[in-house]
Amino acid sequence: MRATKKQPIRIAVFNQKGGVAKTATVFNMAGILAKSGSKVLVIDVDSQANVSSSLLMENMADYDEKHGTVGQMLDEVMTLKDIIEVPSRINDAIIKAKICIRDGGAAKWRGIDVIPANSRLQDLKVEDMDDEDSLYAIRDAIGMIRRTRKHAYDYDYILFDFPPHLGELSVAVLAASDHVLVPATVDSYSMNGYGELMDTVESIRAMGLNPDLDIIGVFFTMIQPLQKYDRSMYQDVREQLGDAFIDTPIRSNSNAKLAAHIGCPLCWLKRTAGVTQDYIAVTEEVLCRCGVLKKGEHLPNLTNGAGKSLSGRLMG
Ligand SMILES: Nc1ncnc2c1ncn2[C@@H]1O[C@H](COP(=O)(O)OP(=O)(O)OP(=O)(O)O)[C@@H](O)[C@H]1O
Ligand SMILES: [Mg+2]
Repeated sequence: MRATKKQPIRIAVFNQKGGVAKTATVFNMAGILAKSGSKVLVIDVDSQANVSSSLLMENMADYDEKHGTVGQMLDEVMTLKDIIEVPSRINDAIIKAKICIRDGGAAKWRGIDVIPANSRLQDLKVEDMDDEDSLYAIRDAIGMIRRTRKHAYDYDYILFDFPPHLGELSVAVLAASDHVLVPATVDSYSMNGYGELMDTVESIRAMGLNPDLDIIGVFFTMIQPLQKYDRSMYQDVREQLGDAFIDTPIRSNSNAKLAAHIGCPLCWLKRTAGVTQDYIAVTEEVLCRCGVLKKGEHLPNLTNGAGKSLSGRLMG
């Protein structure tokens, strides 16, 4: 049961391995959740600022028009670095993302807010975070989100986009998360990475930093169902991981790249495409595992596809 003031569900999309579609997952899942009526805050933990650039593309275009500079907006924003220094700054760091869902249509807010990143996140030093207050700063800051005219305030979900390495900042974000969701690609190293990740989560629990941190599970991204290697790896890992395996893979498809490139999540860009359906299926399974949806229940307002699932094709 949720308390009177609803607490957002905080999901860390995490894998120390690079290029496994962490950002694509946060970006498209945020779109699906927002389209189904939820308010979503995306927090960019990665100094590459990829999810910030995609979600704030139209905001940056506005900024460029007014200030006549190309793409400087991200250099000037507040990031988690500012929030770690002074947690109450979180309310000034949130930006409402404007998203354009069709050619020529107006860009407007569609339920997604962003705390962006920029290259200065890299300047965060171990010494800046060596006291307990810093490790809890992000968790405390989230508790300080208040109603202002600038942002939505009553979030249903907070999604964190992680960098491809583990540092103090990542630990502080894991301390502030409820659940960890792990995208992985089909290759022989992905299971080694998963072992490391389990150890990290286990030590965060054991240190008492976040005893309730839960791993939702691992799902495969960028699957090529026609490749024999992908099919046999899929079947092996599914058997190996048991319940920790999320049986809703994401296919490799150029629409995913296009969506990130033009700053429009798949559910608005290509409603019925296979890769969009894959992302809807994984989002619904994640919500089942977080206790938000019942088995077989669907999110409203989305074009849920019928037909044989990608998982069925990989197993068949
Ligand atoms: N389903 C997909 N099909 C095809 N390309 C994809 C898919 N998902 C992601 N990509 C592309 O793969 C690349 C890596 O994806 P992404 O940036 O999301 O990975 P990441 O794990 O966030 O990487 P990093 O570790 O560098 O942050 C990007 O170019 C992205 O557009
Ligand atoms: Mg990324």
